[in-house]
Amino acid sequence: MLEINDLKKTFDNGTPALKGINLKINKGEFVSILGPSGSGKTTLLRSINGLETTSGGEIYFDNKIVNKNTILDVQKKTGMIFQEFNLVNNLSAINNVLTGLLNSSNKFLSLFYLFSKNQKIKALRSLETVGLLEKSYSRSDELSGGQRQRIGIARAIIKKPLLLLADEPVASLDPKAANLILSLLKRINQDFGTTILCNLHQVDLAKKYSDRIVGLMDGKIIFDENSSNINTTNIAKIYT
Ligand SMILES: Nc1ncnc2c1ncn2[C@@H]1O[C@H](COP(=O)(O)OP(=O)(O)OP(=O)(O)O)[C@@H](O)[C@H]1O
Ligand SMILES: [Mg+2]
Repeated sequence: MLEINDLKKTFDNGTPALKGINLKINKGEFVSILGPSGSGKTTLLRSINGLETTSGGEIYFDNKIVNKNTILDVQKKTGMIFQEFNLVNNLSAINNVLTGLLNSSNKFLSLFYLFSKNQKIKALRSLETVGLLEKSYSRSDELSGGQRQRIGIARAIIKKPLLLLADEPVASLDPKAANLILSLLKRINQDFGTTILCNLHQVDLAKKYSDRIVGLMDGKIIFDENSSNINTTNIAKIYT
């Protein structure tokens, strides 16, 4: 469902962030990316859904090349989850989830929150999936970090995406909340067949929840293995 061929990204200031990435991900896989700070994890995720322009190589998503003409379709079929949740603080949980239905062409609607009954039902279903139905009308800044991330996930899944891109979704959470969030992603992966690509810093969590782990260092893939094959030798290669 995702194929990345020789992907390169050099930022305008000359920083080479990705130096020829080759990665193939099948539908329904849960893949984690591990790598030290600055290895290119965020840049890779942002390149997939067009938040970052690329400098070379190709990305194929759902059998179509990702480019200017296809990017809106790619964005419709992908959901993104962030470390800092990226919620609008003074909005209720349900309104934050509804913003997941907006794209750049209808963003003006967000000024008025003109959502249909059908869309509101979808938002409530997403909140139910993440176990937060009873908090639907709470302001998002009145919730805990773990609950806020569950709203972030509800916002990402409201469009029923084929692919969820999660950029260090548990970095701001304590171990208990981190496990809860990753089990939720695993459940979404299993129940809906949603493919998951997740940047993580914790090796133990990557091994516990993902099918496959990709090790990134200095803009290059150092290993790409089934989680059960990951050992201290692999890990030492990326954290040296
Ligand atoms: N907007 C930007 N302009 C210039 N350089 C950038 C920009 N964003 C990232 N970089 C550089 O690209 C490289 C990869 O950064 P990236 O954010 O992808 O790493 P990361 O693996 O996500 O790190 P972290 O674990 O700290 O989140 C780094 O050297 C970084 O400084
Ligand atoms: Mg990052």
